[in-house]
This record gives sequence, structure tokens and C-alpha cells, in this order.
Amino acid sequence: MSARLASTRRIVRDTLLGRNWERHEPPPDLRGRPHADRAMRLTQAVVGRYLGAIGAYDYDPAFAGHNPDSALELVVSGRRVVAHDDDVVALRFASPDGAALPHWHPGAHLDLHLPSGLRRQYSLCGDPADRTGYTIAVRLVADGGGGSREMHALAPGDRVTIRGPRNGFPFVPHGAALFVAGGIGVTPILAMVRQARALGMDWRFVYTGRTRAAMPFLDEIAAFESDRVLVRPDDEFGVPTAAELLEHAPAGGAVYCCGPAPMLDGVRAEFDRTESAALHFERFGPPPVRDGVPFEVQLVSTGDVLEVPADRSALDVIAEQRPDVAYSCRQGFCGTCRVRVLAGEPDHRDARLTDDERRESMLPCVSRCDGGRLVLDV
Ligand code: FES
Repeated sequence: MSARLASTRRIVRDTLLGRNWERHEPPPDLRGRPHADRAMRLTQAVVGRYLGAIGAYDYDPAFAGHNPDSALELVVSGRRVVAHDDDVVALRFASPDGAALPHWHPGAHLDLHLPSGLRRQYSLCGDPADRTGYTIAVRLVADGGGGSREMHALAPGDRVTIRGPRNGFPFVPHGAALFVAGGIGVTPILAMVRQARALGMDWRFVYTGRTRAAMPFLDEIAAFESDRVLVRPDDEFGVPTAAELLEHAPAGGAVYCCGPAPMLDGVRAEFDRTESAALHFERFGPPPVRDGVPFEVQLVSTGDVLEVPADRSALDVIAEQRPDVAYSCRQGFCGTCRVRVLAGEPDHRDARLTDDERRESMLPCVSRCDGGRLVLDV
């Protein structure tokens, strides 16, 4: 092994084990030069923070074995409107016998299995320390797939099946943080802000929306420290630029962002101009299709051949023809839309399936085809 390769391996190993983070001087870069490049700073910050987060939570034997894939049968214990203009309701779920619920951390979500067979995911926005109930918020999407309508029809006493909590947007309760939320994207952010306050972290919070009446939870947020919170509805301040949203991104700290796709895309593009070390974000709705080409899908149940344009997902096109098709995240990570591929070569773009699974199936919410035709077991 060459001396340079051995040195690189040692640096990577020490960095991943956290040995470099305890020093006050920056770690060397991957070639051993005594300065930190941006990649190294990010590695240091992100891995260190995650290990710190893991160590920050107490082991709880009561829920250590909870499997998020197992079903929880819960009952609706509360319902209230939290934004009138955008028709957002907060729903609370509890165990029918009052038993404590499995623990969760800010950023976690629940999978709701609706009576119609639809599945939808919603971020938890209550207090993680409260084991007596889970709270989510649901915006009514009048022209959506029907999931939000079904959620809005739930009333106290109704029973629901839930899986989770799972966390694809973990919060690291350490250091300085800027939270950025747009509209209903406030749900995971609210739980994070609450915990940052409880821990005495150095935090700031920028919350945007069309109007105040369309922005959920403003009553609760009004009780937060006003010098750390900026509520900026578009009809009063104008639509913010990404630079405005990131104005208080902390040097060496983290930015957490959740909201509509244009906001996320702007923040991601602008982030490199800040001195912050890490950007964490969660997207609502599907990501835009990048580098797509048109292709065809054939549904084996009917023989219909559907054209998938370059800028749309196969799932969207299939759902127009087959509104009962199962989906949830539309981002390639939940696996709900998985379908068998009977012919054709998919261009897999998901973050979920194993190589074995990809040999026979695909996730049409994000995966595509480089032209030609896929025959799907739909
Ligand atoms: S809908 Fe979640 S992976 Fe396709």
C-alpha cells in the first residue's frame, strides 16, 4: 500500500470515528494537507452531528424494539382547523386504551393507511416528549388524489391504521440552526424548533406562506422568542428570494428547510454562498424530472399504451388512467408504488430498491426508461 493511500485511509477512518472533530484546528483534507476543504468541513459537520444526536437520546427499553413496519391501530382523539385560507386541519391520534406510543424525534413522519386503501405520509408536528398522542397537519388538496379529502373527513373516535414513526429528515439537536419553512412545510420544522428552544440552542426560524390566514400554527409560533422568528407572508413582504431566506444561516451550523419545490430548489442553489456546514431538507410533492426523455408504458391489465412525456413521471400518467394505483411519497423512498416490470429496461432513479428488487420491479414515481417501452404489471 502506498504511503499516500495509507494516509488517506487513516484520515477517512479517523474522521468517521470522530477523532478529528475533537481538535480545535480543522481536520486535514483527504490528501493530508493541513487545511480543511469544503468537502471535509461538510463531512466533519454532518457525521459529527449525527453521532452527537445518536448519543443525545436516552435508551428507552419500553420502545427500543418498536418496528416501524408494524401496524398501530389508533383512534382520532382530536381535530382542529389550524389555517383557514389553506384549509389545514391538525389531527391527533391516540391509543384506544391510553397506552403510551412509541417515541419519535423531530422530522419523523407517519404512514397513514386510509380505509379506501390509499396510503399517505404526514410529518409529526407535536411534542416528541408527549407519548399520549401523535399530531399531524393535513392541507386539503381539492384536485389531489383523494388522500387529503379522506383525512379531512376523519372525526374524533374514528379508527386508523398507522405505521411508523420513521425519520427521513432527522434533526441534530446540537450547535446553531436556521429553520426555513414554507406553508404546510412547517409541520416537521415546528417540532424541530420546539426542541431547539427546549435545549437552549442558538436558532432562528423563517416562516413563509401566501397569507397569514394560510399559514398553520401561527398562534403557537407567536409564543416563541420574537427576535428569533420571522413570519413573512408573501402578501405583506413579497415572495422571498433564497438569499433572504438564508440571511441568518449560521456559520458552521445547519440549515433545515421544508416547503414547496421552488423554495427548496432556490435554497439548495444558494446554500453554497453561506458559511453554514450542512443543509437538510424535505420536499413536499415530487421532485422535478431531470434529464427525462419520453417513453411508453403498457398496462398489462388492459393492454393500453400510455405516453410518458419527458417532464412527467410514469406514475402521474398511470394514475390518470388508473386512479386506484397505490402511491404515497412520490419521491422514490417509500416503496408504495412498486410495480413489476414484465418487459423493458427501466432507468432506476429511486433510493429504495435493492439490486435484486430492481431486476423485476421499479418505482414509477421517479424511475423512467431511456426511450422505448416498459410493460408493467398494472
Ligand atoms: S410513491 Fe413512494 S416510492 Fe413511489
